[in-house]
Amino acid sequence: MTSPSHHDISDILSRHRAGPGALLQALRQVQARHAHVPPAAIDALVQHWGLSYAAVRSVVSFYHFLSFEPRGRYTLYLSDSVTDRMQGSEALLQRLGERLNLPADSTRSDGLVSLHRTSCTGLCDQGPAGLVNGRPLTNLTLRRMDEIAALILSETPLDAWPPDFFAVSNPVWRHNLTLGHPIEPGAALRLALQQGPDALLQALREAGLRGRGGAGFATWQKWQACRLAPGPRAITCNADEGEPGTFKDRMLLMQWAHEVIEGMTLAALTVGAHQGFIYLRGEYEFIEPHLRAVIAERHAKGLLGVSILGSPHAFEIDIHLGAGAYVCGEETALIESVEGKRGIPRTRPPFPVDRGYLGLPTVNNNVETFVQVAQIAVHGGAWFSAQGTPRSAGTRILSVAGDVGRAGLYEVPWGITVAEVLADCGAADVQAVLVGGPSGRLIDASQLQRQISFEDLPTGGAFTVFNRSRDMVDVARQYTRFFEHESCGFCTPCRVGCSQLVDTAERLWRGHASQRDIDRLEETGMLMKQLSHCGLGQTAANPLLDVLAHFPEQVSRRLVPDAQAFDLAAATASMEAPQ
Ligand SMILES: Cc1cc2nc3c(=O)[nH]c(=O)nc-3n(C[C@H](O)[C@H](O)[C@H](O)COP(=O)(O)O)c2cc1C
Ligand code: SF4
Repeated sequence: MTSPSHHDISDILSRHRAGPGALLQALRQVQARHAHVPPAAIDALVQHWGLSYAAVRSVVSFYHFLSFEPRGRYTLYLSDSVTDRMQGSEALLQRLGERLNLPADSTRSDGLVSLHRTSCTGLCDQGPAGLVNGRPLTNLTLRRMDEIAALILSETPLDAWPPDFFAVSNPVWRHNLTLGHPIEPGAALRLALQQGPDALLQALREAGLRGRGGAGFATWQKWQACRLAPGPRAITCNADEGEPGTFKDRMLLMQWAHEVIEGMTLAALTVGAHQGFIYLRGEYEFIEPHLRAVIAERHAKGLLGVSILGSPHAFEIDIHLGAGAYVCGEETALIESVEGKRGIPRTRPPFPVDRGYLGLPTVNNNVETFVQVAQIAVHGGAWFSAQGTPRSAGTRILSVAGDVGRAGLYEVPWGITVAEVLADCGAADVQAVLVGGPSGRLIDASQLQRQISFEDLPTGGAFTVFNRSRDMVDVARQYTRFFEHESCGFCTPCRVGCSQLVDTAERLWRGHASQRDIDRLEETGMLMKQLSHCGLGQTAANPLLDVLAHFPEQVSRRLVPDAQAFDLAAATASMEAPQ
């Protein structure tokens, strides 16, 4: 870390087009260079870009990876996902803290190093995992923690650390329609230019493709609505992938970037958009150079730029890095973030297809959706819909993690049963499966014949397995803490509801809750579902409610009578009261 000079800050700002849209990207670079956002940088943004102090400060305070206070020259984030904890991340954190003489979530007074927990880093198949100055750390062990501590204490530059510390693999255990059929760069675009947008929309309709980000909206309908709205228009690719347990987009971005960008370009040709963004979660910063190289290669081949394959269509793609905020995966929060603001979800309607990025009609799709669009454009709708179920056509990629023999990626036909996936990934002694991450559904071992499909158990891609040694109340407690940590705080039902849920989950876990608390928890969950402004608050109670429904014995054996719970709560509050 160097001390911030006026020249240095001006240098960073000069690399961006002045204005709110570039604010988050500029702040990220200031943070990377100075390990915080110093007052001099805020002054410069106010003076040179005409922004208000409030606007700049509110953005810094919103994103977890930005800070007003200096962090260490080495800034470590250990992934605090449930699966990382199952693999011993807390012991690793403690070990590293001991070696560095530093408690978790703090910075050493000499400014050498900071140590933090962070929400899931998208590496659950190779955890325990973490990040150091934006680079991924995988397969962490106690021994590796000792080695990392020694490298930090000797101030060894990251480029001189053993490269295998940063190795990210993408184990694919099951290939099907998508992962078995890579396409030549430009093949789908050539066909689309020959056949016209109506033919592609018809193919997507015939394919029955529904968005892979979770909600499952019909892709052709979304594109058609955007096309009919008055232009100009924009495209965003949702590569935020923050749902704990999901990592399939990481693999697609690392190994299928041509298909992702081909799909985005097809969207641009179809709806008439000239501008596109890949919103890449901050934790995936390490993939950015690869994406930029693919974008450059496609420019050189005429697949992006002013005249795509010699046609009158122009389309440019930029990469917008997030800075650690799960809620930015919600599509309107994502658009706010691309505009450089805090990622607060917008009121809908209007939907992004009518008013999205800078008020322009915008198509937003998940990474996997774009890949499948490109393949449908080449192979046809019938090829895709030959697999799956009536309302869930084709295949989808599952990120399988937790208590399994083979964690990694499985491309499965929709309609497959949970039991079939478990057999495939070598899971034994299964107690519970979380389908779709904590915002999805947790099922017990009596429900393993249920289908993964929009008709039964939809999923944005996560499939996390828990064996019988796991304490499901603790699992639900940790996921609830995740939601509380990631709530943007904009609306009361979610802000207050999440903190009440965490309070009850903690007391339940400690054996301090009564039946009255459980009744209140159910009421709170219902209110959050009905009244929260976005999907985060609407689903935040799911893990606890599912544990109540499917593991009642794990709950009831912890409950105490009402009066005792009251006494315990009062005793705890007086112990925690400030002196
Ligand atoms: C809190 C929250 C987080 C979300 N995170 C993601 C995400 O990381 N990736 C994603 O594609 N969709 C995510 N979504 C869903 C998006 O809002 C949106 O439905 C999706 O990007 C649309 O693309 P699709 O039609 O291709 O699925 C999230 C939604 C919510 C409420
Ligand atoms: S539901 Fe939660 S995350 Fe969504 S807007 Fe409200 S406070 Fe923010």
